[in-house]
Amino acid sequence: MDGGDEPAFVRIARGIADDVRRGRFRAGDALPGTRPLATTLGVSRNTVVAAYRELVAEGWAVTRRGGGTFVAEGLPDPPPRRIRGAVRPVEMASAAAFPLHGDASEPPDPPETPRGTLVMAGGVPDVRLVPVLDLARALRRVLTGKAARGVLGYGDPRGDARLRAAVADLVRERRGIAARPENVLIVRGSQMALELVARAVLPGGRAIAVEAIGYRPAWTAFARAGARVVPIPIDRDGLDVDALAAVVRREPIAAVYVTPHHHYPTTVTLGAGRRLALLGLARRASFAVIEDDYDHELHYEGRPVLPLASADVHGSVVYVGTLSKVVAPGLRLGYVVAPEPVIERLARERFVLDRQGDHVAERAVAEMLEDGTVARHVRRMRSVYALRRDLLVAELGRAFGGRIDVRAPPGGMALWARVDLAPHLVAVWERRAAREGVVFAAGERFVFDGGAVPFARFGFASLDERELREAVRRLARAFPRS
Ligand SMILES: Cc1ncc(COP(=O)(O)O)c(C=O)c1O
Repeated sequence: MDGGDEPAFVRIARGIADDVRRGRFRAGDALPGTRPLATTLGVSRNTVVAAYRELVAEGWAVTRRGGGTFVAEGLPDPPPRRIRGAVRPVEMASAAAFPLHGDASEPPDPPETPRGTLVMAGGVPDVRLVPVLDLARALRRVLTGKAARGVLGYGDPRGDARLRAAVADLVRERRGIAARPENVLIVRGSQMALELVARAVLPGGRAIAVEAIGYRPAWTAFARAGARVVPIPIDRDGLDVDALAAVVRREPIAAVYVTPHHHYPTTVTLGAGRRLALLGLARRASFAVIEDDYDHELHYEGRPVLPLASADVHGSVVYVGTLSKVVAPGLRLGYVVAPEPVIERLARERFVLDRQGDHVAERAVAEMLEDGTVARHVRRMRSVYALRRDLLVAELGRAFGGRIDVRAPPGGMALWARVDLAPHLVAVWERRAAREGVVFAAGERFVFDGGAVPFARFGFASLDERELREAVRRLARAFPRS
C-alpha cells in the first residue's frame, strides 16, 4: 500500500499541514478536538495527540494555556523573501582569469531547439510514453518504505544491490551472459561506463580501435583519457575484423570499441564469423573488447542477436548496457558487466569521479525490473516503434522516390539512408531542414575524420505518426535541388 509504512500520526500531521498550506485552516484557527477527530478518522486518541505534537514541533501549530491546539501565525516554511538591497552581488565575470586546459572543441548537442521543431537527429525514445506513474509509485515506495534509510545514505559505488542483482538476472536470462551481481557495476548511463573504462584501460597513449563510422562521444572519452584512437573500416557486415587484425599485427592495441548488435549509426549486425574472429583475435593479442549494446531489446525482426559477451569464456569483453533507450535517457542509468576484478577496478574510478550513483532511482528501477513493469514497457515500445519505423520508410519512399534509398533496419531507433546528393550537399540539406523545423543528422557527423558521405540518419522512435508525416514534408521542402 502506498505510504503504508508511514506511521499513522505522521500521515495525519501531513494531512493537516497540507490543509493549512492550502488555506483550509487559517492562522489562529482551532484544530478539532482530539477525541472527535480520533473518532472521525477511526484511530486512537493517542494517535491524534501524537499528530498534534508533531505539528507543534514542526511549527504548524501552537498549544495555548487553557487547552486546545491552534494553527500557528505564519507558515513554518514561507518561501524565502527577497530583501531588497540586503545583498549586493557583484557582476559575474565574463571570462576566467586563469588558463583552462584541454580541448573544448566538442560542445554537447544544443539542448534547445525552437518550439515546434521536430527532432529526428538522435535515436532517442519517446519519453511521452514512459510509464511515469509506475516510476513515481516506485520512487515513492522506496522513499517511504523501510529501504529509505539505506538508499538515502552513502552506499556502494558499484550501485544498489537490488539493481545489480536485477541486471545480472536480465543479462543472464535474456542475453546469455553468465553474470552474477558481483559482475555488475551500475553507472549513470553508458557514457560514464566508457569514461571509467577509458581511465582504467587506456592511459599513457595506448591505442584503442574504433569503428570508423561510429559513436563520437565514445571516441572523445577515449581521446581525453590520453588514448590514441585508431579508426577501422566497417562494411555491411559491421567492423572489418581483417582490417583490425592487420592493425594489431603492426602495433599493440589496448582495446576495441564496438557496437555489434546494431552498429551505430548504420544499424548493421556484426556477422557471426566476424564475432568469433574478433573474440579469437582479442584473446591472442590480449586486448579488451568494449561491447556497447545500447538498444539490445529494440529488435523488430526475430530475436535479438546474443552479445559477444555471451560467448566470451576468456574474460576479454567489457559489456556496456543502458536503460536510456528502454526507459528514459534522463534517468541516467546504465551498467557494465565484466569479470569481477574489472568491476572492482572500475568501481574505484567511479568513486573518485562520482562516489556513487543515485541509489533512490536505482532501487526504484530495480523494483520495476523485478515486477515486470520494464519488460511490459519494452514490449509495448517494440510494437510502437516498429510501426513508426515502417511509416517513416514508406513516407520517405513516397516523398523522395529514388532520391533516398532507405530500408527498414532490423532494430534500433533510427534509419540510415543513402541519399542521392553530392556528399557535401547532405550537410546543406541538414542546415536547410533545421530552418524548416526538422532536425536530422548528416552522415558526416558519424565519420571519424568528418569527411562528407552521401548518407543521413533519421530517428523515428520519438515522433508519433502525425509528426513523422509532417517531418517528411519539411524534409522534402528543404531538399536541395541538384
Ligand atoms: C552508441 C551509443 N551508446 C550508448 C548510448 C546511450 O548513452 P547513455 O547510456 O549515456 O544515455 C547511445 C545513445 O544515443 C548510443 O548511441
